[in-house]
Amino acid sequence: MKQLTIIYSSWWGNTRLVVDKISEILHTFAIQVELLNASVAKSQDLVKTPHMLLAAPTYDHGILHAPMDRLLLWAQDIDLSGISFAIVWLWDEKYDQEYTVEAAPILESFVTSHGGILLHESLKINKSPVGQLDTVELRTKDYGKQMTSV
Ligand SMILES: Cc1cc2nc3c(=O)[nH]c(=O)nc-3n(C[C@H](O)[C@H](O)[C@H](O)COP(=O)(O)O)c2cc1C
Repeated sequence: MKQLTIIYSSWWGNTRLVVDKISEILHTFAIQVELLNASVAKSQDLVKTPHMLLAAPTYDHGILHAPMDRLLLWAQDIDLSGISFAIVWLWDEKYDQEYTVEAAPILESFVTSHGGILLHESLKINKSPVGQLDTVELRTKDYGKQMTSV
């Protein structure tokens, strides 16, 4: 059975809603999912399983939500070689006209600059995810297929 650790950060629950949906779909692919809140995660949790998913929203003029931001800071020297990652981030253009997607490349470049592999195109969710769970489901099925084939 494949295993996936999801490290997520969420203030108001949107990201949690999305990772819950992702977990539900991945279970149908017989993938065992562990959810870990970034606020209690340690840097070594980033290499907990050969497949990882990082999910975080954008806050404060286009930066990562603080718990995920802190985790990446603590993990500056980590080696992610051989680990595959998927990235999910949430944002909302209404909060900041200029700094809407500044957080977008942060997680991706963290992964690649530390030797990790991006297995799937990052899932980006603008505004509330509530009406977008069908898209989350479709993209997760695609990811599930990819994950089970490697
Ligand atoms: C106080 C506050 C500040 C925010 N700042 C930004 C921002 O600078 N850029 C952006 O794109 N979205 C911003 N957002 C939108 C959040 O990223 C979005 O609502 C996200 O879905 C929240 O996820 P969460 O419920 O998991 O915390 C902000 C939201 C709040 C409440």
